[in-house]
Amino acid sequence: MDYLKTISMKGKLKNAILLILITLQIPLHAKEGMWIPYLISQLNQDEMVAMGLEITAEDIYSVNQSSIKDAIVHFNGGCTAEIISNKGLLLTNHHCGYSQIQKHSSVENNYLKNGFWAMSGREELKNPGLTASIIKYMEDVTNEVLQDVNDQMSIAEREATVSATIKKILEGRKNSEGYELKINPFFYGNQYILIAEEVFRDVRLVGAPPSSIGKFGADTDNWMWPRHTGDFSVFRIYSGADNKPADVADENIPYNPNYHLKINISGVQENDFSMIYGFPGSTQEYLPSAEIKNTIEVYDPARIAVREKLLRILDRKMRQNDATRIQYASKYASISNSWKKWIGEIKGVKETDGVERRQQLENQFEAALNKDAVLREKYGEVLGELNKLYEERKPLMLERYYYIEIGYLGIEVLRHMLGYRSMVQYYQEDKDNELQQRASEIANGMDNFYKDFDVELDRQAMQVLLPIYLKEVSTEEVPELVKKLKEMEDKDLREYIDELYEDLVVLEDPLEFREMLQNKPSKVARKIEKSDAYQLSSAMYDHFIRVLNPRVSAINDKIDYYQGQYITAMRQVFPMKRFYPDANSTLRVAYGKVEPYEPRDAVYYETQTYLDGVMAKYIPGDYEFDLPVKLIELYKDKDFGPYGEDDKMPVCFIASNHTTGGNSGSPALNGKGELVGLNFDRVWEGTMSDINYDISRCRNIMVDIRYVLFIMDKFAGAKYLVDEMDLVYNPVVNKDEEMKKVLTN
Ligand code: ARG
Ligand code: GLU
Repeated sequence: MDYLKTISMKGKLKNAILLILITLQIPLHAKEGMWIPYLISQLNQDEMVAMGLEITAEDIYSVNQSSIKDAIVHFNGGCTAEIISNKGLLLTNHHCGYSQIQKHSSVENNYLKNGFWAMSGREELKNPGLTASIIKYMEDVTNEVLQDVNDQMSIAEREATVSATIKKILEGRKNSEGYELKINPFFYGNQYILIAEEVFRDVRLVGAPPSSIGKFGADTDNWMWPRHTGDFSVFRIYSGADNKPADVADENIPYNPNYHLKINISGVQENDFSMIYGFPGSTQEYLPSAEIKNTIEVYDPARIAVREKLLRILDRKMRQNDATRIQYASKYASISNSWKKWIGEIKGVKETDGVERRQQLENQFEAALNKDAVLREKYGEVLGELNKLYEERKPLMLERYYYIEIGYLGIEVLRHMLGYRSMVQYYQEDKDNELQQRASEIANGMDNFYKDFDVELDRQAMQVLLPIYLKEVSTEEVPELVKKLKEMEDKDLREYIDELYEDLVVLEDPLEFREMLQNKPSKVARKIEKSDAYQLSSAMYDHFIRVLNPRVSAINDKIDYYQGQYITAMRQVFPMKRFYPDANSTLRVAYGKVEPYEPRDAVYYETQTYLDGVMAKYIPGDYEFDLPVKLIELYKDKDFGPYGEDDKMPVCFIASNHTTGGNSGSPALNGKGELVGLNFDRVWEGTMSDINYDISRCRNIMVDIRYVLFIMDKFAGAKYLVDEMDLVYNPVVNKDEEMKKVLTN
């Protein structure tokens, strides 16, 4: 500033500064939203351009020519990945490839711990069952889907009609290209979109950094900023000789995509345009305030409490035992991930007065309806109905959560027993062939079960969690067995649980059990059917599937109807507001800026982290914060190759893109549509964005693409992969030179 004061302000400089100030002050806070790519040209393009987008909506999504969309991949239906070479090279998160990396790992060949790099195509590892889907086109079919619906129908009739019509449309559309077709509801059934995708079935593991990089900071740092994780892994799509999806086979060849992303290694600056293109899973942004309140006061706390107990049991043994740590790594990570998010969600909603602000919106909504007789007549009941329905659903929802958390996710043996239900049924019905076939299927899958199962841990989990379930499940038609257990003395229940594990044939001798499955399936069915584990698992499941689920889904149909009405009404009441559909695992674009945030008094978070920050967190030997020797050496030597920024190595950055689970692995693109990072998380203060987005503090976290390339090339020695990619730079602008020119003119 002093420097500026000493020189006389010449006209040009004044103008330049003025221009900078004006551009900085344009209020562009419209960063909330996950937009349908083919509607961007109508809804978002102007704003995106004003914020710094330099390409067109057509470059982002087109069905007539190749576009960025052709490089965006739905990775196994849960994460996002992107194609970064003309040989189908795929980039996604380490935590998205985690279970594949784990499956190929053993104590001797521990890829989770040491990383894995295929040094040629032949070394790439196959993953039967893993899919990579690419969207071919999306088409609005709302009119077709709703053609047989009328206002006289009940909600249930409407539901049935819509489902039947969707089925008919899909059957009529069978296509010769072999695309998979589906029709998804948007805005709770106000809109329907047909989606055609090409689903690749041979997706191979190419590389992954060691967990000490890919999962650095693990659960302690999860959902947190500043972050220092190299959360990436590399796969490759293989196709048949015709470049079409094929079953896993040696003769498959690397897929040649319609488009692959260019990679920009100049990095990003604060205030740069930022865009995330991917498959966000699920959000609920239009809940009434009362249901937000239920979420943070009832559902979240219940689920947090159960998981806390389970995590404590697992953590104890994982810390003591290497084999257990590998076995339970993936399970632990996924259980702790939502557990921590819910804690953040409660905090975030409270700190931003989410419930109160939603209440204010409802007040405005009601006030507007009161001023307009026509609107009131049509929508006057909507909010009241919604609140009633959510309230009615509450106890059922809660019980449902207890079943899922305890009977399905928490106690593995109960979930495992569900796999025998059809077998037992075939046995009861004397269907020998089916029985034999199902028994073989189970026998073939048993390795997967045994590999990652620890009886002692599961028994402990049941001892702690089952009593909670028994206490909480209370709707009238509680099954007999559950009723009996509910009335048992604690000591007897403990004995019952111990015996349940002791008597279970599945847990006796794995080899013998598998042989028995193949040779004497009736005997197995008989034993299983009589076992306590099977009986309990069935009782709990039946209650869930026959009592809770039908009731909840009947209420959900009504909720969907009124939520849809609510959004339609809001569109009329707030015509200036733009509405985006909740995430539903379909392809979306979110955009924002690389920007800092100030979550509380005196705290200011910058946008970029560096390797210095990684080193500052280093704790030798720690299971979350240890580092590989090689990385430390590269750091000491400042051996960053072309990927460093002066003498620093960038690691992660944040931006104001609206993202959620499923956006993991999504490409972070700059204004030119070039890859600059890989999305993998959100900041702690903003984890409530699924129900209550708040621009002041919601930020997504990305690993800087330069860190990804540095790890591949300098750390892992897999430069040949980088050679496959198209790297680009920003033209170098020497800022001092520019300034000098302005000043001397
Ligand atoms: N929180 C991120 C997401 O929701 C990363 C999860 C993986 N990391 C972990 N430590 N569990 O998926
Ligand atoms: N980590 C999340 C995932 O697995 C994405 C980040 C988020 O939920 O914001 O999809």
